[in-house]
Amino acid sequence: MTTPPTSLERNAPRGARIVGTGSDLPEEIRTNHDLTRTLDTSDEWIRSRTGIGARRIAGKGDKTSDMARRAAQRALESAGLTGRDLDMIVVATVTPDRPLPSTASLVHHQLGARIDCAAFDLAAACGGFCYGLSLARAQIESGMARHVLVVGVELLSRIVDWTDRGTCVLFGDGAGAVVLGPTESSAGGRLLSTALGVDGSLTESLTVLAGGSEEPTSAETVASGRHYVKMNGQEVFKAAVRYLSEVSARALEQAGITADGIDWVVPHQANSRILEAVASRLGIPNERMFLNLERYGNTSSASIPIALDEAVRSGVIRPGQHLLFCALGAGVAFGAAVVRW
Ligand code: UT7
Repeated sequence: MTTPPTSLERNAPRGARIVGTGSDLPEEIRTNHDLTRTLDTSDEWIRSRTGIGARRIAGKGDKTSDMARRAAQRALESAGLTGRDLDMIVVATVTPDRPLPSTASLVHHQLGARIDCAAFDLAAACGGFCYGLSLARAQIESGMARHVLVVGVELLSRIVDWTDRGTCVLFGDGAGAVVLGPTESSAGGRLLSTALGVDGSLTESLTVLAGGSEEPTSAETVASGRHYVKMNGQEVFKAAVRYLSEVSARALEQAGITADGIDWVVPHQANSRILEAVASRLGIPNERMFLNLERYGNTSSASIPIALDEAVRSGVIRPGQHLLFCALGAGVAFGAAVVRW
């Protein structure tokens, strides 16, 4: 469906648009069947409760910055740009190479970015990519930056407890990236709205207890597994259905578009049951959800840009179509964006 520019697009003097996408996924595929060799679980349980069939696992030598760099290079290539064209690099991740320096600084160096290009990590967990988009949009629309790289990247396989069937079956590794640039027209990829939020009363529902200032890493924290992801799945599930619907509705309203006008929802790929409930609340048919979680599981901040890159490169998303992104994760932090492709 190709539609004319909205009044918001016509009135905004300077906008931000996605000019390139890229992704990187590890080669190793770990299926649900593989997990049943060491865990008391089944393919049937995982598929029926989550929609996940397999996940990718990073090789021993691979670091977060390696995957981020490869996804970023592909995004730059598709935009016809190089690292020297960037004014800002945002790496959304909760699994940085190290607590410091930022993974973004490592990516900055590997891409050969200029010294006056800012680079930093953004910690909003699964919501990180939407937070990054919102920030990039503000930088570009205000004229403070011309080209911004936003990467979502996670090596969650390094922070999950592979003996905890309640969490390890859900997550996977991967990286996705977009490059944003300015536009003064209704050229494709324009961000029409971004909406963000947090419910800080739910911080305990998805957390890594040790390894920060509250509980520095010690032999004891490691022995008791407090450096692994802990989750109250049902609490997160309920929050996801509620807030993904709310923040998506807010983004639609700000973009001046109704749910009928959305051609594709490219959501955070956490759980197909959550997404069915959100689609039903928004009044969007399930067939308009672009899903790849069956193959990759939940890759947190990377899941939207990986799905976007896949949908764009395979020709599923076409020029003129309207897209809705929405994500929620630890914090609980959530966000949504509407894009005219
Ligand atoms: O990225 C954002 C963050 N995460 C999410 O969005 C995840 C949100 N939550 C969820 O997706 C779901 O809550 C889960 C998929 C994590 C769990 O599904 P559920 O329907 O809420 O299951 P449950 O936690 O209530 O557990 C039901 C049963 C339990 O057994 P009992 O107590 O009924 O005997 C669990 O021990 O299922 C058991 N169980 C499993 N069984 C087989 C939990 N994990 C597994 C497993 N295989 N992997």
